[in-house]
Amino acid sequence: MKIKAAVCYEYKTPLVVEEIDLADPRKEEVLIKMVGSGVCHTDIHAQEDGWGGMDKMPMVFGHEGSGIVEKVGPGVTEFKPGDHVIVSYPYCGECEYCLTGKPYLCPECISLIHGGTMADGFSPLSKDGKTIHNFFGSSTYATHAVANVRNLAKVDPDVDLSLLGPLACGFMTGSGAVLGQFKAEPGSTIAVFGLGGVGISALMAAKICNCTTIIAVDIVESRLELAKELGATHTINGKQIEDVVGEIKKITGGKGVDYAVEATGFEPVVRNAIHSMGMGSEIAIIGPATHFEFEQLWGELYGKTIRVINMGMVQPKLFIPKLVEWYKKGMFPIDKICKTYTLDDINVAFEDSLNGTSIKPIIKFE
Ligand SMILES: NC(=O)c1ccc[n+]([C@@H]2O[C@H](COP(=O)([O-])OP(=O)(O)OC[C@H]3O[C@@H](n4cnc5c(N)ncnc54)[C@H](O)[C@@H]3O)[C@@H](O)[C@H]2O)c1
Ligand SMILES: [Zn+2]
Ligand SMILES: [Zn+2]
Repeated sequence: MKIKAAVCYEYKTPLVVEEIDLADPRKEEVLIKMVGSGVCHTDIHAQEDGWGGMDKMPMVFGHEGSGIVEKVGPGVTEFKPGDHVIVSYPYCGECEYCLTGKPYLCPECISLIHGGTMADGFSPLSKDGKTIHNFFGSSTYATHAVANVRNLAKVDPDVDLSLLGPLACGFMTGSGAVLGQFKAEPGSTIAVFGLGGVGISALMAAKICNCTTIIAVDIVESRLELAKELGATHTINGKQIEDVVGEIKKITGGKGVDYAVEATGFEPVVRNAIHSMGMGSEIAIIGPATHFEFEQLWGELYGKTIRVINMGMVQPKLFIPKLVEWYKKGMFPIDKICKTYTLDDINVAFEDSLNGTSIKPIIKFE
């Protein structure tokens, strides 16, 4: 079928919104009419350099989709046309990690995300007979997407689908780290570095866990203001305060925090996050700390736990419906951080994410 999609032809160039072809769903696959698709910084990394060259061009990005099942392929029993679904990350479904409910540990996960095709090497996207690669096994910056049933989580049809796409990645990842990995105790202290979709959702989760000291660190004042509204007890503007670590130590009576979330991916921030940890504490490294040299911090890391997070370390089919319940109860107020754009304005949405105008841009489809 013909669909409209945002295609990246070359790194560092604007996405091109145009008509392309999408193949029918095959065995275990589903065709989804997209309703919304969030902008995650991972899409922006892909556009900048294809995750260090892993993403093959041309490619359609987008991995935070929400939509309605339109057609199912052979063998699909879990979904039917009309189901409301969130399109999350791919995994093999057959390895020991997938079989024991930990698909985020699947050794195939990263290659299925960045490899440009489904597991069997086929991409359902093309133009004039030439292959266009898919992303995360779905490519949700398009009016329609085909994905394997494993990627999908079913959600309550009574909730407005248009804002739920980011539950597939950013919102699931930040909150999953705090709720699932830390299981932060009531009364504990936490610092969140970076208040994009990932960091803000970690902060919302810290509130759900009843952390009593919640320190938000960012360089955009409006994000710090919003963080206060959402439950931050302290805010630190990294541009205005030189000694961020000293400030955090001061707030925590010299001890350092029980939990830290690094959601920027910038080396100096990773360093600050580690230095602000207290004894027995845990850190979730979520941004790509690819250039960070952990060896130099051996002494500093004594008695502390580092968790490098992939997709919130959660099974989306089970975790996403829980986030929807919290959203319905007003405990996970994602509507406060989302701003919608049309597919034609996708390059503006990317720009607004980067310049601080919009925490979570969402492409809303007609
Ligand atoms: N590990 C995973 O599974 C996973 C999942 C989703 C996203 N990510 C990664 O997590 C990172 C965050 O994603 P996002 O979509 O929230 O990004 P984002 O760009 O929306 O947010 C990043 C935030 O960091 C802030 N920031 C920048 N420099 C800073 C500094 N020096 N000090 C403090 N704050 C600073 C920015 O102002 C922004 O608010 C990205 O690198 C993304 O690729 C990883
Ligand atoms: Zn697997
Ligand atoms: Zn993402």
